[in-house]
Amino acid sequence: MPGPDGTGLPGRLVVEDWDALTFRVNRVAYRSEEIFQAERDRIWARSWLYLGHETEVAEPNDFKTRTLGGRPLIFCRDSGGEIRAWLNSCPHRGTILCREREGSSKLFQCFYHAWTFRNSGDVAAIPGKDAYEAAGPEFLDSMRLRAVPRLETHEGFVFVSFNPDVPPLPEYLGDAADYMTMISEQHEAGMEVLPGTQLYGVRGNWKLGVENAMDGYHFAPTHNTFVGYLRETGFAVTDDDQYAYNLGNGHSLLVLTGHGGRISMVWEPRFGEDEKRRTEAHRAEMDRRLGPERARYVADESHILFVWPNLLLFDLEGLSIRQLEPVAADHTEVRAWQLAPRGEDADTRALRMKTMVSFVGPGGLATPDDIEAYEAVQRGIEATAADTRAGMDYSDMSRGMIDEVKGVQGRSIDEGAMRGFWRHWVDALGVEDGLVVSGNRPERFLEGRNVR
Ligand code: FES
Ligand code: FE
Repeated sequence: MPGPDGTGLPGRLVVEDWDALTFRVNRVAYRSEEIFQAERDRIWARSWLYLGHETEVAEPNDFKTRTLGGRPLIFCRDSGGEIRAWLNSCPHRGTILCREREGSSKLFQCFYHAWTFRNSGDVAAIPGKDAYEAAGPEFLDSMRLRAVPRLETHEGFVFVSFNPDVPPLPEYLGDAADYMTMISEQHEAGMEVLPGTQLYGVRGNWKLGVENAMDGYHFAPTHNTFVGYLRETGFAVTDDDQYAYNLGNGHSLLVLTGHGGRISMVWEPRFGEDEKRRTEAHRAEMDRRLGPERARYVADESHILFVWPNLLLFDLEGLSIRQLEPVAADHTEVRAWQLAPRGEDADTRALRMKTMVSFVGPGGLATPDDIEAYEAVQRGIEATAADTRAGMDYSDMSRGMIDEVKGVQGRSIDEGAMRGFWRHWVDALGVEDGLVVSGNRPERFLEGRNVR
């Protein structure tokens, strides 16, 4: 059914009512293949996308293959040391050029007709090249590997965009950039991605993955087994001093301080006196290097940062990088990596890995609950798909709107971070009639959190 703007999208995808203090999302947004396609064209083809961390391709000739926004890419460091993102498609007839997930190679050879390319993009060899002689040297030039139009890096985090006109990365990241900087400041030796990828499929729309990460409201009920375990082991479980920030441009942040600091800072004392001294020494070093106020943000808070549209950084139980790749309206691929201080001692490293696997890993204490919720929403919303009665096919995200009206900072157990996400989604999708605003919408939403 064509929508009011002629795009085939239904109108009123997101409905805010500031008289009734309600915020509703039309569930068609999670299941429509038309909307999925519109997102591919208007979000994934236009925005900056997180590709990977530069330490994943630490040495010249290292490469990874990775699909972003449905497009297969080669992420590599070329023989000269430069980071590259090539379309993983043979310039000859379009075949997937590199079929390995990772490795080290100066050359990529297409299996179809054996054309071979250097990791700097040049053609290295074409079997029976004489046949092309008459076309002149421009022929080889026109057959170079195709680069993703834009590639920029912030603190080791590599972003690409298929849109040549996308704004510069620092402008796009805005306030989110500083939280990424804080992550890289956790250790004076710097941070690196550890080998190994956790890769799993979720039968749910990618936006449910973002909602779940930005939703402190679900924590106690969904993870009640884990919460019970935390309580039994004497860990403080609280909703106090936990806030949700809309950082603008679709980025958002949860700051969790109620449990007494970033869990990775408080791990080490659990070992014994030596480790306690080492943690205190690390904390004192941070104070000296960053100043006490910044060190407090870096060391004593946990953060969950969402960088629009595909990056989640969980700085809680270790530091996990999670990348979302939409495969279909009801299917998302999730990839996760662990970021850790370079040269960390073996005991701390082992505990970090154990904590990642046992908490945010796909077989851990928390993530399977989240995936169950994520998939259960996708299954459940089918029940209301045919119901055209007003409001029946909408999901509610109104919790905490009153704080927005009052200009009070929203808490993580409210749904303000999700509202920020959806407002940006409507803007990014460019559906003129998509956002119906009525009543007393506040002039200015709370945005940003200045910690510099
Ligand atoms: Fe790759 Fe022909 S398609 S060499
Ligand atoms: Fe959860």
